[in-house]
Amino acid sequence: MQRLVLSFVLAALLNICTGADWCYQSQVTCGGHCKGPVFWNQVNTECGKSRQSPINIVTRKTVLDETLTPFRFNGYHTAFSSYIKNNGHSVQVNIPDNLATVSGGKLEGTYKAVQFHLHWGNNGGPGSEHTIDGEQYPMELHIVHMKEKYSSLTDALKDRTGVAVLGFFYEESSSTNRRYDDFVQALGKIQNTSMNTTLNSISLERLTLSPGNMTSYYRYEGSLTTPGCTESVVWTVFEHAIPLSRTQLKTFSSLRFHDGKPMVDTFRPIQPRNNRVVYRSGTAVVVASVGLLVASLFVTLGLSRPN
Ligand SMILES: *[C@@H]1O[C@H](CO)[C@@H](O)[C@H](O)[C@H]1NC(C)=O
Ligand SMILES: *[C@@H]1O[C@H](CO)[C@@H](O)[C@H](O)[C@H]1NC(C)=O
Ligand SMILES: *[C@@H]1O[C@H](CO)[C@@H](O)[C@H](O)[C@H]1NC(C)=O
Ligand SMILES: [Zn+2]
Repeated sequence: MQRLVLSFVLAALLNICTGADWCYQSQVTCGGHCKGPVFWNQVNTECGKSRQSPINIVTRKTVLDETLTPFRFNGYHTAFSSYIKNNGHSVQVNIPDNLATVSGGKLEGTYKAVQFHLHWGNNGGPGSEHTIDGEQYPMELHIVHMKEKYSSLTDALKDRTGVAVLGFFYEESSSTNRRYDDFVQALGKIQNTSMNTTLNSISLERLTLSPGNMTSYYRYEGSLTTPGCTESVVWTVFEHAIPLSRTQLKTFSSLRFHDGKPMVDTFRPIQPRNNRVVYRSGTAVVVASVGLLVASLFVTLGLSRPN
């Protein structure tokens, strides 16, 4: 009997713990109850495992993989209509079934596009999830794909390579990116959590990069960057960034979390790389230190190294 009571109490406690909502660090307050990134492992134990995302990509430590060839995009140019929604953590657009796929780029077959969402900072400040040589970009786009054979993300997440996310950085530009006019305008209609509005005639191609700029990328195996943090994601992080003006970037900070506070700094901090290798495609650039550059120059020229 005592045992029964004990297990009941334990179950109730566990229920409270798993029931607590997760949140970003910007939402953590004294006396608040949501669990910030440091405690996500209490929301889902997977968040504490060893193949988590995002990571800092140290270009000098990336390994060149010539088989990371260009991707084949299908339906990326197709215009579609969908809802854009403030889901309380981000803005998300669901992509209609059978609209777009990606293959090539050393992916295990064809993956179909499911949804996309973004991660950003505060009023155009640092806000990407992945960082390159310690640099955090103002925003990051995630286009989530799953293997063609699956009919739900839940199923795909049971497969170690079931999900492929394409990650794009943004950079601040002096001019307005007209391709984002409709998208940025829609943000004004979904300021509060749970609000949605229709987005007419958008395409994935319109929101990403030119094909020529999508041949340089990094590849590693990681996880979702929100709880459950499932380690089933083949990550592709593109080297080139999408330009947006400061004003466009700032508009994302006008959205609100469910408590009415500004939706800012919606990124998970970088996670340990552990023993994982980050590969780079043939055209991705390694940022060499000046010392190394000088040394290799002397080697190339057949000169002896200066002391
Ligand atoms: C969009 O919002 C409307 C009104 O609140 C709601 O009825 C509808 O279910 C929502 N649609 C989506 C896709 O969230
Ligand atoms: C890549 O993007 C830049 C602008 O960011 C553009 O000038 C360049 O032409 C693009 N390269 C290719 C190959 O598309
Ligand atoms: C959005 O939420 C705020 C409170 O945070 C409220 O005052 C406002 O009326 C809401 N706006 C809409 C359109 O629901
Ligand atoms: Zn994401």
